[in-house]
Amino acid sequence: MIYLDNAASTWPKPEGVADAVKKAIVEYGANPGRGGHRLAVQAEQAISGTRHKLAQLLGVRDPGNLLFCLNTTHALNLALKGLLREGDHLILTGWEHNAVARPVEWLKRHRSVQVTIICPDEQAGWAKQVEEQIRANTRLIVTIHGSNVIGEILPIADIGEVARKHGIFYLVDAAQTAGLLPIRLDDLPVDLLAFPGHKGLYGPQGTGGLYASPDVPLVPIIQGGTGNRSEELEHPGERPVGFESGTPNTPGIAGLGAGVEFVLQTGIEKIYHHEMELIRQLWEGLTRIEGVRLVHPKPPVLPILSFNIDGVDGNEAATILDQHYHIAVRAGFHCAALAHRSLKTADRGAVRVSPGYFNTSEEIDQFIQAVREIAEAFRGFSHAW
Ligand SMILES: Cc1ncc(COP(=O)(O)O)c(C=O)c1O
Repeated sequence: MIYLDNAASTWPKPEGVADAVKKAIVEYGANPGRGGHRLAVQAEQAISGTRHKLAQLLGVRDPGNLLFCLNTTHALNLALKGLLREGDHLILTGWEHNAVARPVEWLKRHRSVQVTIICPDEQAGWAKQVEEQIRANTRLIVTIHGSNVIGEILPIADIGEVARKHGIFYLVDAAQTAGLLPIRLDDLPVDLLAFPGHKGLYGPQGTGGLYASPDVPLVPIIQGGTGNRSEELEHPGERPVGFESGTPNTPGIAGLGAGVEFVLQTGIEKIYHHEMELIRQLWEGLTRIEGVRLVHPKPPVLPILSFNIDGVDGNEAATILDQHYHIAVRAGFHCAALAHRSLKTADRGAVRVSPGYFNTSEEIDQFIQAVREIAEAFRGFSHAW
C-alpha cells in the first residue's frame, strides 16, 4: 500500500512510537497524578517528559502552558469556548477547517457571538483584511496556519502583530504545520495554538494539545477530577491539571513523546525538505496530465495538493486508486466546507494527496502514473461539473 493521506494522520509512525505505547500499557499502566505509588509516578513522568519535549520543539519556556487534548478539534473547542463570552466578536478566515467553523457556528447560535469570515483576497493581504474587520467588541482572531486543502501558509506573525496592536487574542490552528514548520511560541505574537499529536508530531491518534499563553484568561470547559485539591468542590483552574480533568491517554501521550523525539532528532528542516521535494514532483507530474485540474493555481508550500480529473467523480477516483492501485488518498470535502466554498469546489470537492516523511520518489512516480491511466480511461466522459 502506498499511503498518501498524511494530512489526515501520518503513517507509518517512527519505530519508537509503538514501543513507547506498549511500554506504558505493559510496564506502568497506572493512573498518573492520582496516587503516590511508583507506577503512578512513572506514568506521571511519561506525561511530563512528553510535555517537556513539546515545549522544546515549540519554543515554550513553561511546559505548564501546554495542555494535552484528544486532538486538534478538542484543543480548538477548548480555546474558543474557554475564552469567548456572550456578545463577543470573532474574526476567522474562509480557509478554516470544520474544527473551527462548527464550534464558531455553535457559539454564534448559543452564545450570541458575532462572527466575521474573511474571504481570501491575495491582493489585499491577510493581516490588512483582518485589521479592517476589527470592532470595539472583537475579542479573538482565529486563523488556520497551513491549509489542509491547498497547502498554502498564512502569515501568522503579521496577523498576530495586528492582534497585539489592538489588544485582541489570537488563536492559530496548526493542525497541518506543527512538526513541519518552525514554530517558536515564546517569540511569536500568538496567544493560543492548537496542534494534533497524530500528524506532523508522529504520535498516536487520540493525542493533541493547546498552547495557551499565561496572559490568556482561559477557563476549563470540562470539570472533574484533577488529582489535586480533591477535597474542594470548586474546580481548580490552574494549568495544566485544571484543563486536563479525568484520566489522560497515558499510552498515547507516551507514544507522542517518542514521535516528538523523532522530529527533534531528525530535524524539522530535513522533514520539510523531503516532503516538499515529493510535493514538487507531484505538482510537476500532475500538471502535465491532460484532464487533471489542480484546485489551486500555485505550487503548494506544504506537502498537500488537491485536484480533480475530468469525467470522473473524486470519490470514484479515490476508490480506483485504493482498489486497483493500492494507493490511499482522500477525496471529498476534507472537513473543510468553508475552504471548499472559498476555492469554488463546494459542488464536487477534490482528491487530496499528502505525502509524508516515509514516502519515496518512486511511490510518487507510481501515483502519477496511476492518475495518468485513470485520466486516460475517463477522457471524453461527460460529467455534471
Ligand atoms: C487544518 C485542520 N484543522 C483541524 C483539524 C482537525 O484535527 P484533529 O483530527 O486532530 O481533530 C484538521 C484535520 O485534518 C485540519 O487539517
